[in-house]
Amino acid sequence: MTGPEAIIHLDRLRHNYRLIKRQVGDRQVMAVVKANAYGHGVIPVVNALRAEGVNYFAVFSFEEAVELRDAGITEEILIFSRLSEDILEEATERNITLNLSWNDDLKVLKEFHRSFGRSPKIHFKVDTGMTRLGVQYHEAVSLLEEIKGSPGLHCEGIYSHYATADEGDLSYARYQLKRFNKVLQAAKVLGFHFKYVHFSNSGAVLNLQQSWFNMVRVGMLLYGAFPSDEVPMDLPIMPVMEFTGPIVAVRPVPAGTHVSYGGVYRTKRDTNIGVIQTGFADGFPRPWYVDGTVAYKGKRYRIAGRVCMDQFMVDFGDCVPTVGEKVLFFGQNDTDVLRVEEIAQAIQSTTYVLLTAIGGRTRRVFVGG
Ligand SMILES: Cc1ncc(COP(=O)(O)O)c(C=O)c1O
Repeated sequence: MTGPEAIIHLDRLRHNYRLIKRQVGDRQVMAVVKANAYGHGVIPVVNALRAEGVNYFAVFSFEEAVELRDAGITEEILIFSRLSEDILEEATERNITLNLSWNDDLKVLKEFHRSFGRSPKIHFKVDTGMTRLGVQYHEAVSLLEEIKGSPGLHCEGIYSHYATADEGDLSYARYQLKRFNKVLQAAKVLGFHFKYVHFSNSGAVLNLQQSWFNMVRVGMLLYGAFPSDEVPMDLPIMPVMEFTGPIVAVRPVPAGTHVSYGGVYRTKRDTNIGVIQTGFADGFPRPWYVDGTVAYKGKRYRIAGRVCMDQFMVDFGDCVPTVGEKVLFFGQNDTDVLRVEEIAQAIQSTTYVLLTAIGGRTRRVFVGG
């Protein structure tokens, strides 16, 4: 079988987890494994992290949580999506923690409790400035009062989400934190003792120690990439994904040869053009062809022309690469490092977009487990 491969280094994932854990001290790490663990393959990733002692995972959808339960994952799971009435019974039965993230959610939960005499665990989400899900900051305290007056609701945690924690200018993040602290103070006066208080994503783990509370909610750093190029980058995390594809053909061509659709790439001299069996349908970042490179045996080579759906070409110059061998698109192997952050920056994308795009015919291979 030939085609793109995402080699997932589970030993590097564990290494990254340990670095984060060391950074945040006695705070718990909630591992964010939504979207198939950011494209890495959720079940092996969760199992590797369980082995490190992680006991809270976050996913987005209810279906993602059910997938983990069906795979025998018994640790705590929080879902980020908005709750709906039709999932309450199964969530309660299967111990899946839900988000109270909209005023009407409380009515739904109270109604469920009235009818069934039980309810799922909830984390109360405050919108402090992201303007996405979350009870609005100025309504949070009155909703907390209502929760207090609703026996049977189990509000295990409270949290919020940053819009700009990975930016150089942290003034808006500080403004969000100030709002969150005000809600926490009011909740304390109301007599709440939350088991978990969490606000920090990867950016805030690097940037905003004041918001670590007793749990951090981390995704990108676990996978060995930085959330942006504006954060401190001294944590020596390692790329978990090594994205590669095979060289399936090589031919010498003269100077002036047009390569790929549109003929936008023309060889400057006599050279060797290799065909790589991976395309944008597999998640290869198409805009990277403009100035992009791949790595092969310790050297970088230019992508030649537009990336096609299933293939693209590389200008190998004087090198005649071996058909059947692989080139590195991003990640790290024995001879090369090409960080996904470099591509994200060059094509004005993000590490989140690039990693979660990996798919199509890409085969995931798990090593170091
Ligand atoms: C609500 C929430 N918390 C935490 C995270 C983790 O963010 P990061 O991957 O930057 O650590 C995400 C990811 O987008 C999120 O949506």
